[in-house]
Amino acid sequence: MNQTVKQMTSFIVMDILERVEKMRAEGVSDIISMEVGEPDFDIPSSSKSAVEQALRRSNTHYTHSLGDEPLRQAICDLYRREYGVEVTSDRVMLTSGSSPAILMAMLLLCNPGDEVILSNPGYSCYANFVRAAHAVPVEVPVDAHTGFCYDVRELHSYITPRTKAIFVNSPMNPAGTLMSPEVMKEIASLGLPVVSDEIYHGLVYEGKAHSMLEFTDNTYVLNGFSKRFAMTGLRLGYMIAPQASMRDLRTLQQNLMICAPSLSQKAALAALNEALKEGGDAERMRHAYDERRRFLVPALRSIGFMIESNPAGAFYVFADARRFLNDSRFPSDCYGLALDLLEHTHVAVTPGIDFGSRGEGYLRFSYATSLENIQEAVRRLKDYLS
Ligand SMILES: Cc1ncc(COP(=O)(O)O)c(C=O)c1O
Repeated sequence: MNQTVKQMTSFIVMDILERVEKMRAEGVSDIISMEVGEPDFDIPSSSKSAVEQALRRSNTHYTHSLGDEPLRQAICDLYRREYGVEVTSDRVMLTSGSSPAILMAMLLLCNPGDEVILSNPGYSCYANFVRAAHAVPVEVPVDAHTGFCYDVRELHSYITPRTKAIFVNSPMNPAGTLMSPEVMKEIASLGLPVVSDEIYHGLVYEGKAHSMLEFTDNTYVLNGFSKRFAMTGLRLGYMIAPQASMRDLRTLQQNLMICAPSLSQKAALAALNEALKEGGDAERMRHAYDERRRFLVPALRSIGFMIESNPAGAFYVFADARRFLNDSRFPSDCYGLALDLLEHTHVAVTPGIDFGSRGEGYLRFSYATSLENIQEAVRRLKDYLS
């Protein structure tokens, strides 16, 4: 077995998911899933029609390796509209989900033994993409009082001559917090390539998300259609990269992926042209998430969880459960607590440890489920915790 694969860590939440499936197979029918990071909505209606039409027209062949030109242009328009940045369509590459874009960014930027900076806690797959490029993930501890964002002064001590990139993710998974433009600017000024994961852009309820492109061109922006447009299974993402990297990225794409799925590209173009219109599907979904968030955050606080940093985006709340873990009536670690909650309340959540060692003590609640489900989950948690 390849050593790099062996080093990769698996998702602990998969244990929870497997347990959920087993319980359902045994006839437990009232499980409320708040562990998944996947929208509970259908894809936008315009995207559905676009796929049906594309299928009728047999648009089922390879596309240009970078993706369809009208879609790449629409992505440039989106970034101009939302962030006031000018990018040309030859800097945009469509990928099958944003995940392969992260992989290709790492393959492009790193030689074996190079280092890439990421936060702990943070999205746990980043470290595995770094390992896939035979590079070394360097974890920088972050915590609730900075909204789980880097303290740039501390960041300096993690940078070495081998550092080849730094990951940023705002709004961030697991905490839904936003990075301030001041911090983004400071990170940009470090002069390192910034891999900016903007997958939760468009799902912001307070404040404004900024693109790294507003601060530097030395950035590899990752984005996609999974979250904002509820298209997880259509597997469509993209990267906006510096002009000078496009030739190599294209070579990687041509060899490793060929191109992004053609039908999904049609769905994505319809999403950008139609679903984003005022009162359209994207706005409807965003409103629903915000309504859930406005209920969930105070409700979790009222039953004893601490939420120090404002979950202003994405669809997650990262709740500090240490008060319960220090109480002998409950398990003493977040994984045990998540399993115990599932067992006794039939509410599934993700243990914070899934996002790095510094996630211990936390539970991640996803509000990508109906308000009714969330209200019922809180009722059950309240009973269990008291
Ligand atoms: C922060 C973050 N980045 C990237 C992804 C991958 O998304 P996809 O490959 O569906 O575009 C996820 C999925 O949960 C995520 O949370």
